[in-house]
Amino acid sequence: MFIVLLGPPGAGKGTQAQRIAAASQLLHVSTGDMFRENVKNETGLGKLAKTYMDRGDLVPDEVTISMLLERIGRPDAAAGAMFDGFPRNVVQARALDDALAARGSRIDRALLIAVADAELVARLGGRWICRNCGALYHERNDPPKQAGTCDRCGGDLYQRDDDLPAVVSARLEKQKPPEALIEHYRASGVLREIDGERSLDAVTASLLEAIG
Ligand code: AP5
Repeated sequence: MFIVLLGPPGAGKGTQAQRIAAASQLLHVSTGDMFRENVKNETGLGKLAKTYMDRGDLVPDEVTISMLLERIGRPDAAAGAMFDGFPRNVVQARALDDALAARGSRIDRALLIAVADAELVARLGGRWICRNCGALYHERNDPPKQAGTCDRCGGDLYQRDDDLPAVVSARLEKQKPPEALIEHYRASGVLREIDGERSLDAVTASLLEAIG
């Protein structure tokens, strides 16, 4: 099964992808995590991506698509995957469709998590992430038991550079899923829209139900 998670920055794509992966064993592929890993390791790709991420811009399609296609060509993606943060536009969606069609597959579900802007700003400003295992927390909505420390692995928690207020407003302006992308999946009958302004558990339940 191949699933796409759509939604604006801070909608809960990463949080829900981690929960769904744990419940379904589906591989979680996050282009944002892949870029951040490259930034951390100071690769050429990371240095390039950082110039875009720091401004709240999308990384150019040709770079992002080739990184994603290389990832889904690996054996652990043969049976399926859940894409978090990809595609961001119709060009990326078509590249993914073509790659899946070449191996006799298709996107089975596109899950759009809807959240209003004011809530997105609050979610991004309060987000903390484990440097070691990537677990996601929110200082108010989903706090760790001990501030600054991951419940799961004891790792240090940090805040993303692109969660600073100036970059958040650029991301919200430039990175909401475009209507053409939503229509791409609506037209093929795989789109499901989920109200993301509910508890974490309620959103997870709706997403799992939509996956079926
Ligand atoms: P990426 O990492 O994909 O960032 P994003 O799309 O902006 O999404 P976020 O990770 O910020 O938010 P999320 O929806 O995952 O929310 P989360 O679960 O963390 O991309 C980063 C950058 O990489 C981009 O800016 C771009 O430059 C580049 N990039 C990536 N993919 C690309 C692509 N395909 N093409 C080009 N460039 C690309 O939740 C947020 C917070 O809210 C957390 O603290 C969480 O605890 C809390 N929360 C979540 N759900 C709830 C809830 N139901 N109730 C209360 N709190 C909640």
